[in-house]
Amino acid sequence: MITTHHKKLYEGKAKILYSTEAADVLLSVFKDDATAFNAQKRGTIQGKGAMNCTISSHLFQQLETAGIPTHFIEQLSETEMHVKAVSIIPIEVVIRNLAAGSLCKQTGLELGTLISPPLVELYYKNDELGDPLLTLDRLLLMKLATSEQVAQLAAMALKINDILTSFFQECGITLVDFKLEFGLDHNQQLILADEISPDTCRLWNQSETDPSRRVMDKDRFRNDLGEIESAYQQVMQRVLAHSL
Ligand code: TMP
Repeated sequence: MITTHHKKLYEGKAKILYSTEAADVLLSVFKDDATAFNAQKRGTIQGKGAMNCTISSHLFQQLETAGIPTHFIEQLSETEMHVKAVSIIPIEVVIRNLAAGSLCKQTGLELGTLISPPLVELYYKNDELGDPLLTLDRLLLMKLATSEQVAQLAAMALKINDILTSFFQECGITLVDFKLEFGLDHNQQLILADEISPDTCRLWNQSETDPSRRVMDKDRFRNDLGEIESAYQQVMQRVLAHSL
């Protein structure tokens, strides 16, 4: 519950971050607001905040168990999570196992083409510039991170991909691609931050082959496929029913 102890620090498209009485702990509140195509499309997905908070909490716990440091501390309520305060590295790390989305648009690769080994892509987290794809040279020029940090980010992202791919496989879901954000804690250690949810992953139901019916993620909103809430609910139920 938000009290006078909480000061709003940052409001993003899907979450609000508040300070708490503890300097190294923040409150992350998940919203039902949905945006796509750099907020050109806006809407609301009923219950999304609660579902994404619950899904992310469970996935962060799975990753912690597998040895990945994350910002997750505890889920406080359906839509609220305590997280460690980090300074976010303004790089969106995208991992792709199958071709979809912007990769298909920009390369002509057919939807669903297997990508092996998985592709790791880095985007500049900057809404005004439309989150452009980075090169290593540009990233270093802009001092967004050091080359050591980039190597560490990529290695962590691939390890997270291995863990989540097996986890979702157990759920009967194919992890097509997803986006991660990392931060530095007070010891300058890289830790996984933000969220992992149907907003930030492409997830295909393995019991469906139809390209529209199989979609269980925000592509239902992006591409006006309908039945968004029930798809997110399906993901939540399956995720909560599995542990590594
Ligand atoms: P893309 O194919 O549009 O580049 O998206 C790749 C993955 O990253 C997909 O799982 C959706 C996720 N994503 C975000 O979480 N936030 C974003 O702003 C974008 C563009 C993609």
